[in-house]
Amino acid sequence: MEENRPTLAVIGGTGKQGRGLAYRWARAGYRVYVGSREAARARETASAIRARLADRAADVHGLDNLSAARQADVVVLSVPYAAHRATLEALRPALQGKILVDVTVPLRPPRVSRVWLPPHGSAALEAQDLLGPDVAVVDAFQNIAADVLWQDDPIEADVLVAGRGKANRHRVMALVEAVGFRAWDAGPLENTVAVEALTSVLIYMNKAYHATHLGVRVVGR
Ligand SMILES: NC(=O)c1ccc[n+]([C@@H]2O[C@H](COP(=O)([O-])OP(=O)(O)OC[C@H]3O[C@@H](n4cnc5c(N)ncnc54)[C@H](OP(=O)(O)O)[C@@H]3O)[C@@H](O)[C@H]2O)c1
Repeated sequence: MEENRPTLAVIGGTGKQGRGLAYRWARAGYRVYVGSREAARARETASAIRARLADRAADVHGLDNLSAARQADVVVLSVPYAAHRATLEALRPALQGKILVDVTVPLRPPRVSRVWLPPHGSAALEAQDLLGPDVAVVDAFQNIAADVLWQDDPIEADVLVAGRGKANRHRVMALVEAVGFRAWDAGPLENTVAVEALTSVLIYMNKAYHATHLGVRVVGR
């Protein structure tokens, strides 16, 4: 493993959020495996990203979710909350010894603009409990809208990084900064409750202010 440039897998990388993350890391020069339940769908997304980055020989490929997770040093999970537990159960052996960057927000449709806390408090706490002590679960990108990731304009929003272990959070912060965001160490795993819940607040505010991608900016440092 190359410490400064880990190989990444984006599970659910065919979706709105995952595709944007895969695009940004590929653009930054990372090797990225897009994961899907259907390898063909993952290959289509990887091929669309390569076409968009035609001038840079992007190192992005499509695989089924499990193969993608096996190939990666750091695994990013970006699936709807309803699929979170089942996806993690299937991937558990491939995640041991790795960082799992969880992007999942525990939304309960149709009331997605109201905070709802799952039984563990957050998706990340649930993931950590399910995966055991040899996986470090770290939250990031919950408060960034998918259309922001897929465009090339300068980014104003910050990313709060919360999860297990300061060193792990700092590794994830480097991945966040590599794709153009300012990253903040937002503390331990318990703080993922607030980071994930903030997304419903932003969804509410998007509706209230007729916006599509409101985000947060931390000030006063
Ligand atoms: N969209 C946003 O703006 C945004 C912003 C912040 C956070 N998030 C969070 O990021 C996560 C992904 O969001 P998204 O908008 O990208 O979701 P999405 O497009 O609805 O789904 C992402 C991918 O998950 C896979 N998937 C869907 N249903 C599944 C199931 N039942 N079992 C296993 N895999 C399934 C699909 O990939 P395959 O069919 O190829 O397997 C799909 O392409 C969510 O937890 C969301 O709350 C989203």
